[in-house]
Amino acid sequence: MQQGTLMAKKSPLPFTLNTHTTYTPKKNAKPKHLVLFADKDGNILGNLDGDYLERATALISHAQFKGALGETVSDFALAGDVPVISIIGTGEADKLGNNIAKVAKSTYNALKGSKAGVILWGDRICQKHFTQFALALLNASYRFDAHKSKKDDKDALSTVDIIANREDMDYADALAHATATFIGQSLTRDVANEAPNIMNPKELARLAKELGKTYASSTSVTVLGEKEMTKLGMGCFLAVSKGSEQEGQLVVIEYFGKSGKPKGKKAKLQDPIALVGKGITFDTGGISLKPAAGMDEMKFDMGGAAAMLGTIKAVCEAQLPLDIVVVLACAENMPSGRATRPGDIVKAMNGTSVEILNTDAEGRLVLCDALCYVQANYQAKTIIDAATLTGACVIALGGVRSGLYSNDEDTLFALEQAGEQSGDLLWHMPLDDGYDVQLKSNIADVQNIGGREAGSVTAACFLQRFIKDGQAWAHLDIAGTAWHTGENKGATGRPVPMLMSYLTAQAEV
Ligand code: BES
Ligand code: MN
Ligand code: ZN
Repeated sequence: MQQGTLMAKKSPLPFTLNTHTTYTPKKNAKPKHLVLFADKDGNILGNLDGDYLERATALISHAQFKGALGETVSDFALAGDVPVISIIGTGEADKLGNNIAKVAKSTYNALKGSKAGVILWGDRICQKHFTQFALALLNASYRFDAHKSKKDDKDALSTVDIIANREDMDYADALAHATATFIGQSLTRDVANEAPNIMNPKELARLAKELGKTYASSTSVTVLGEKEMTKLGMGCFLAVSKGSEQEGQLVVIEYFGKSGKPKGKKAKLQDPIALVGKGITFDTGGISLKPAAGMDEMKFDMGGAAAMLGTIKAVCEAQLPLDIVVVLACAENMPSGRATRPGDIVKAMNGTSVEILNTDAEGRLVLCDALCYVQANYQAKTIIDAATLTGACVIALGGVRSGLYSNDEDTLFALEQAGEQSGDLLWHMPLDDGYDVQLKSNIADVQNIGGREAGSVTAACFLQRFIKDGQAWAHLDIAGTAWHTGENKGATGRPVPMLMSYLTAQAEV
């Protein structure tokens, strides 16, 4: 089996990223590429004077630059020692909302052919947007070319200096956050983009163990196989994995950022936050087989697990002072002579009997046992799961916002805040009892589908049935946001930015 392609990369950053308060080019330094921002009225956003201002003003008028969001115009200086100037439009600069990533993308595209870039940051732009910009600039360089025998040429860009000088902002802190997030998010994207014949449950487990070695002083990693899960009575999980030749794996990563990892064997986390991810490395639908068209995209059905793995890597990089437990429910959903049939009844770890009416509703089955496992083994402050759970959520929210469900006001509010802070947006969805009744089975405690109506909601209601009274919990349906479809299909690495914002804020309380 091919492996080891993912974590072998050495320098985790595509280019160095610094901030400075003033622009003082070194004597005899080669001319650089200067990026300026201009709003929809053609105003340059940062403090600029002298020759540069003259050139920029001339460029704006000659090129009939309108300053629309992401619009780019470049002036490739003809003579000797002057830098190229590129101007990027920001639209209405005071209403950037969640659009700064577009500005970052255009900035990267303008800069990628140059070795060094200098960005004059507009001081009307706030800290939140600075962090989002830095992360989006790094992300713009991302490629997944592990399987191309002829790689595209590397972009030339090796250094970016951002000139930013508002005193009420901590730019260094913002860069550190963006950098750690990028490192985690890139892992998420690499893992989710990998082909499903390579990225199977065992490979996911191996990557987790590798992460455990890289951050040995703060993490410990345990993997349960099907034998252990059988002993624990995880009948729902096993009902999914049994149809596959690939053994299902429950990956447990403990991160001791607050309590410190003790030397002894059995260490206990203090008030951990639990992160649970759906890791279906390929979802054929099982006996309730999916249609052929576009089925390849079901390799992304481990996007929740990939996101939690990337998030814990980002947390390790940022050394957040928190305790966290990550549980990845990794299995492949296949049809076979051993596969679960529609109509089969199985028992979850907490004793709930489940009538499986559709084997394609498998995510909730692996997750319910993972949720039981977390609650049986940890006193979690709150549990957050992420899952590419339903096509219905793609229909409801598309690729803009992930669905957010929660039984707890504090978790709900903190996650919504983190969504706004990171631009990795969420939308609060309901969990009323009125939806839950759709899961009533006449022969078992619950059935695994709730009919055509409100499919994302009934999936969340199913999960909620496995949350004990008083246990704070949130569920993220990332089916629409974890990857882009179509020609440029690929993993987005969401919701790693939101989770990193959330966890950073939690570390500060
Ligand atoms: N992994 C899919 C959900 C999915 C579908 C994500 C399309 C992204 C795009 C999930 O396992 C699934 O198949 N869900 C079913 C549930 C149904 C059988 C109740 C669905 O959404 O159709
Ligand atoms: Mn499915
Ligand atoms: Zn699935």
